[in-house]
Amino acid sequence: MRTIHVIGIGAGDPEQLTLQAVRALRDTDVFFVLDKGEAKADLVRLRHDILRTHVPEGTYRVVEARDPERDRGASGAAYSPAVGDWRSARAGIYQELIAGELGEDETGAFLVWGDPALYDSTLGILEEILERGAVTFAYDVVPGISSVSALVARHRTGLNRVARPVQITTGRRLAEGLPEGVDDVVVMLDAHQTFRRYADQDIDIYWGAYIGTPDEILVSGPIAEAAPRIEQLRAEARERKGWIMDTYLLRRGPGK
Ligand SMILES: C[S@@+](CC[C@H](N)C(=O)[O-])C[C@H]1O[C@@H](n2cnc3c(N)ncnc32)[C@H](O)[C@@H]1O
Repeated sequence: MRTIHVIGIGAGDPEQLTLQAVRALRDTDVFFVLDKGEAKADLVRLRHDILRTHVPEGTYRVVEARDPERDRGASGAAYSPAVGDWRSARAGIYQELIAGELGEDETGAFLVWGDPALYDSTLGILEEILERGAVTFAYDVVPGISSVSALVARHRTGLNRVARPVQITTGRRLAEGLPEGVDDVVVMLDAHQTFRRYADQDIDIYWGAYIGTPDEILVSGPIAEAAPRIEQLRAEARERKGWIMDTYLLRRGPGK
């Protein structure tokens, strides 16, 4: 039976790799690496560095493939079908890779950014392939340190306050309003600096870009003061590197 490890590799700092992840890396014959848009070169390089550091040379193969294009223009009611189509296209590619590149008794691995449980489609894709039934395999999941954990650690703060909830959401959702009944909101996948909409409110922001990498930038403080600074730093960094990955925590209410 083919086996697949889905390995969370942390959100940018190679030292965020867990001992369990290293063990799974060393147990792998074939690594599947799919390239991803603008950030591709840097993110693929980090994966190769991790392999070189932790797995003896000559004990594994790396198979690279192209990610299908996603319809990033889709919005509103068209958004979910666009993501669904993209996921199915990816499932087709993953299926071909597994069937064509992984021997019947071999172990493959997908190295997933951060934690595979958070805004990542790998697990859904593997389930879709198994449902299609053309190829069978067993798989397991190694949790990783997510960008959310890394963000709050770098800011030396917690995610929730005593006995209070925290919500993790996207920039797209935040554009529809701050969630009700939740005063600590983590925002990911925000290409539009949606926090600016709330700059007139009594909110603190804890923002981080390229967290855990040598390019890391951190800003925190009352949103009215921090927002213009983040906008400027974000624009400069995006210009310099050609891509940006940022995450932030918005905190409002008593006892901020
Ligand atoms: C597709 S999601 C993947 C999240 C990932 N599975 C995790 O656990 O962090 C990508 C988003 O994660 C956040 N992100 C990932 N790595 C980051 C980093 N090193 N610094 C800041 N944000 C990061 C950004 O919000 C980015 O838009």
